[in-house]
Amino acid sequence: MQETMHTLQVELGDRAYPIYIGPDLLDQPELLLQHVRGTQVLVVTNETVAPLYLDRILATLSAYEVASVLLPDGEEHKNLTVLNRIFDELLSNSHTRSTTLVALGGGVVGDMCGFAAACYQRGVNFVQIPTTLLAQVDSSVGGKTGVNHALGKNMIGAFHQPMAVIIDTKTLQSLPSREFAAGMAEVIKYGLISDPEFYYWLQTNIDGLLARDEALLAEAIERSCLNKARVVAADEREGGVRAILNLGHTFGHAIETAMGYGHYLHGEAVAIGMVLAVRVSVGMGWLASGEVDRLRVLLSRIGLPVDSPENMTVEQYLTLMAVDKKVIDGELRLVLLDRIGSAVVTAEVPRDLLVATLSGTS
Ligand code: NAD
Ligand code: GLY
Repeated sequence: MQETMHTLQVELGDRAYPIYIGPDLLDQPELLLQHVRGTQVLVVTNETVAPLYLDRILATLSAYEVASVLLPDGEEHKNLTVLNRIFDELLSNSHTRSTTLVALGGGVVGDMCGFAAACYQRGVNFVQIPTTLLAQVDSSVGGKTGVNHALGKNMIGAFHQPMAVIIDTKTLQSLPSREFAAGMAEVIKYGLISDPEFYYWLQTNIDGLLARDEALLAEAIERSCLNKARVVAADEREGGVRAILNLGHTFGHAIETAMGYGHYLHGEAVAIGMVLAVRVSVGMGWLASGEVDRLRVLLSRIGLPVDSPENMTVEQYLTLMAVDKKVIDGELRLVLLDRIGSAVVTAEVPRDLLVATLSGTS
């Protein structure tokens, strides 16, 4: 049976945009072409993704004045120095304000291309073509763009929505297992924060998903994007509810920064962070203690880490968490669960509970 494309909409008024999800969408040129503005296009990708998929994108864009820039691969290159290569390319080829940027790759490429699009001549169009599971279910949707600073993850950035997100589910077939597992952490996040049935569905279907069954994957991606699109439409710039998308991220970002960017994959750090967040939620009396094990079993089945790095101290956690973007006036706020499928943002966690959880004594 021919699998069909599904289209979701991120409802943001005059900046609303579609998310196309389906197999072989890279072979449907009109999906991209209808969102290109102007006559110039710069495709931003990296040295790993380019040999796999760049030719097809360039062929689609052959009627345009099209160029590409290949960034070095890796989270450790997600910084201002490497970002400048995109501006070098745009300026040396006299790209005007009506240029279109296309992000072809994972979350690193997407975040950097989006940030370049937000900054170049104070904002140009861009389209997201995410090729990792994590980028397809999370980073390509919602307009958060940016780079890391040595002192903090994703600390330099802007909100800038794409014109469209084109998710070709077939691109996941070339994704290494470790990267696939990291993306699954963000998929599980949606179940935990807003979709309990999805959480139970994931537990039931985890073997098929790990075997990369096309139909199950498409369903998991669509359900994830639907959850994300709803939250983004309700709170585009994270004045409130959008913060729930950061379940596990306050701990996870601290782990990524402390261990050095690239040591843990983002999704791996988020997996450990989600276990910590569930532990704190149990400590608050909001969840049954069995939920910690249920989550650990699911994450472990996927091959994700579930324990804090052995050499990471409570002091490191607390210092790095103090610069989290959810800190307001020096007050740390954490995303916790008051039940499975319902997240809250709270500043009420007692310090001794937090310290006990981070030190592994609770
Ligand atoms: P990534 O971009 O580093 O990609 C992972 C690896 O897979 C890279 O080596 C990449 O070259 C390779 N790759 C990409 N597509 C491939 C394919 N189809 N086949 C084979 N290899 C492929 O990592 P990621 O997990 O996609 O993204 C992580 C980044 O996303 C982090 O920087 C994180 O901060 C960011 N992020 C942003 C948001 C947001 O809302 N903007 C949300 C979550 C995460
Ligand atoms: N990944 C968190 C957000 O998009 O808000």
